[in-house]
Amino acid sequence: MLLRSLYTLNYRNLHNQTLEFGPGLNAIVGKNGQGKTNLLEAVYLALTGLSEAGKLEQLVQHQQQEGFVRATLERDEGPSIFEVGVGKGRRVAKVDGIRVKAGEMLRGAAVWIRPEDNDLVLGSPSVRRGYLDQLLGKLSVRYAAVMALYDRNLAQRNASLRSGEHWALEVWDTQLCDLGSEMLTMRRRVLLRLQELAQAAHEALGGGNSLELTLQETTTPESYLFDLKNRRSEEIARGNTVIGPHRDDLELKLHGVAAQTFASRGEARTVALALRQAEFELLAEKNDEMPLLLIDDFSAELDLERRVHLLELAHRAPQALVTGTESFPRALLTYQVEGGMFRR
Ligand SMILES: Nc1ncnc2c1ncn2[C@@H]1O[C@H](COP(=O)(O)OP(=O)(O)OP(=O)(O)O)[C@@H](O)[C@H]1O
Ligand SMILES: [Mg+2]
Repeated sequence: MLLRSLYTLNYRNLHNQTLEFGPGLNAIVGKNGQGKTNLLEAVYLALTGLSEAGKLEQLVQHQQQEGFVRATLERDEGPSIFEVGVGKGRRVAKVDGIRVKAGEMLRGAAVWIRPEDNDLVLGSPSVRRGYLDQLLGKLSVRYAAVMALYDRNLAQRNASLRSGEHWALEVWDTQLCDLGSEMLTMRRRVLLRLQELAQAAHEALGGGNSLELTLQETTTPESYLFDLKNRRSEEIARGNTVIGPHRDDLELKLHGVAAQTFASRGEARTVALALRQAEFELLAEKNDEMPLLLIDDFSAELDLERRVHLLELAHRAPQALVTGTESFPRALLTYQVEGGMFRR
């Protein structure tokens, strides 16, 4: 898969323009606050339908009502056009002119590496859970669908806990266990390979061979229903479901201790990079097409060894978009960006 071009309209600070990209390393160079991150975010949205913005309307240029991104792709089966329009609480996705759900876009088409990934290591369990859920959603349409059902069920169950309609809990419990157990099983399965790939990447990055990934589970597929019954009175008191995949953590250990508590910033960055590289390789294994690699702020907090490694990864990918404040060696194409305007 190759990203041929991207058109943006009323998207953040970006000028309305079409940018063309080639295979290999595409560099985007500019000073702080010029639109480098916004461009990668727009590409990621156009391909995957995913956005990390707190609210969709944040993506729309100030003073405008709607924004739009359109990616032209070259795929094995021929050219294809992916479009996403965003407005207040609204996201409309189309593939080759036909309306699709955001979940039906190419979730696994891109991997985005950025400085904020440090939160994967140093942040709360919810960030790591988000990483795991998003990765599984990229690997399996089934997982994404099951998780959406689980979340809906969970919200309804919590509403019953709070409203005192405890007679409804039996129904929610059974569904929650079925859906939650499927998520746990899929998480356990993917973790085996993720662990191998992340360890290898971590070692190659010069971080040593002591990285361990373990699931901290609040329940198991076997004991789920039983555990729920046991915690019933606590849950009613709290008005919340206290066990299940929405409460689990992906624990990261370095030298046998929790990286969240003990890792230095540089160590955290290395672990985060290893997780992203593992994501890239898992997707490449699962899908026949290699994902597009997006690397934001390439040199942030990295020493020379890690920078060289990351550049090698970018060169190994069939196509990478890499941003930085200075030019890159061996870039096949370079855009300079100033005030949201891109020039080659
Ligand atoms: N909805 C929006 N409308 C207009 N401008 C916006 C919107 N959202 C963000 N911006 C602006 O876009 C500018 C560029 O942001 P961006 O994060 O892409 O910069 P950057 O080039 O990645 O900078 P840095 O090197 O500091 O990471 C910022 O000044 C920001 O205020
Ligand atoms: Mg940026």
